[in-house]
Amino acid sequence: MKLKKAAKLTGVITVPGDKSISQRALLFAALAQGVSRISGLSAAGDVCSMFSCLEQLGIKIENAGEINIVHGAGLYGLQKSQDALDCGNSGTTMRLLAGVLAGQPFDSILTGDGSLCKRPMGRIVAPLTVMGATIELSDAGTAPIKIFGKKLTGRRYVLPVASAQVKSAVLLAGLFAKGQTSVVEPAVTRDHTEIMLRAMGVDVQQMKTEISLKSQRLQAIDLTVPGDISAAAFFIIAGLIVPGSELLIKNVGMNPTRCYLVRLLQRQGAKIDCQNMRNVNGEPVADLQIQHSKIKGFTVKGDEIPLLIDEIPVLAVLATQAVGESRFEDAAELRVKESDRIDAVTQNLRRLGATIEVWQDGFAVAGQQYLTAAPIETFGDHRIAMAFSIAALIASGTTEIMNSGIADVSFPDFYSTLSALNAGSRHA
Ligand code: S3P
Repeated sequence: MKLKKAAKLTGVITVPGDKSISQRALLFAALAQGVSRISGLSAAGDVCSMFSCLEQLGIKIENAGEINIVHGAGLYGLQKSQDALDCGNSGTTMRLLAGVLAGQPFDSILTGDGSLCKRPMGRIVAPLTVMGATIELSDAGTAPIKIFGKKLTGRRYVLPVASAQVKSAVLLAGLFAKGQTSVVEPAVTRDHTEIMLRAMGVDVQQMKTEISLKSQRLQAIDLTVPGDISAAAFFIIAGLIVPGSELLIKNVGMNPTRCYLVRLLQRQGAKIDCQNMRNVNGEPVADLQIQHSKIKGFTVKGDEIPLLIDEIPVLAVLATQAVGESRFEDAAELRVKESDRIDAVTQNLRRLGATIEVWQDGFAVAGQQYLTAAPIETFGDHRIAMAFSIAALIASGTTEIMNSGIADVSFPDFYSTLSALNAGSRHA
């Protein structure tokens, strides 16, 4: 994809259904008693990975236009898959399914693409093993994951890293365990699992940072998935940095554990107006009006990082336009995402001419930089492709994004949405 510097972005857009909520909706509905109807489900590659794994485990899912109908099999209704379950690029599919499959009366193998098979899986094996699971990884601690289904026992587990995927894997395993399962978080992470399990009738207790549950049936529900704030983030930032822009992003999920980006940017001077706030299945939703703004440089660190972990690549692009330096600290988790995002972001920003300082768990970006078009390497990472497509809108000349189709992993209509906002001409 080739993208030119944009004059301004204007218009009204929507973004795909939230990827984290879509994946949980399919999985939890599969484990529920009865038929669930899900509307607004994302069509992203990662969600398709969860979809096809569940079909392989014997779950029937009907697509009726806007609505997906999941025929829940109950907690013990999954069937052994003869073949390995392919989780594609999706860490959420792999880690959440591992939690569920550890307590089944059959064995399973989880695998994925080249990127997913490099990501650390020891972080789920450790707590699940404490609960009685038998799981084998490669020598490098990565997938393929061989799971030998076992009877589990509930335990209290203190997470060494703040990860919603690991928290969710342990809580899901807890649905199949004897006694109580508790997870203690070192910092708050996205809480869609807790919200959705409660909506499906599970008694999920929370005492400060400790979340607990006991084995319990899930009831089928009708659910509407809100738009993905992590997808909206690309257009929020595009609207803020491209001079003259004014746009409206409708129906964006504003869960407090996900929308820290908006709060941070508003504090730093961004004109983001959250309109029509409402509640959909326990998740707050709003329409966001964005106007080009002058933003002050910022530091994000510690407990703030998990609250905007997926938005950091595009936030780093904005940082090049902020007034003053911006710093991203305590962000080691970025090194184990779909790519090493500290490396991918800093390499690409440097190619565009930005001044960057980088260290093991973070980086700093100088403000008010002049960016010049350069070929962008996406490292097979959807968020790197999209973040640097936004950078292309403010770089002089024509920027080529290599392997831009990888955006489909979370946002299949990303480039057509960008065109609809009149973002300069593009050539396939
Ligand atoms: C996700 C949690 C986050 C996030 C990922 C989706 C989820 O990962 O980066 O894109 O759906 O639970 P970690 O929980 O490993 O930080």
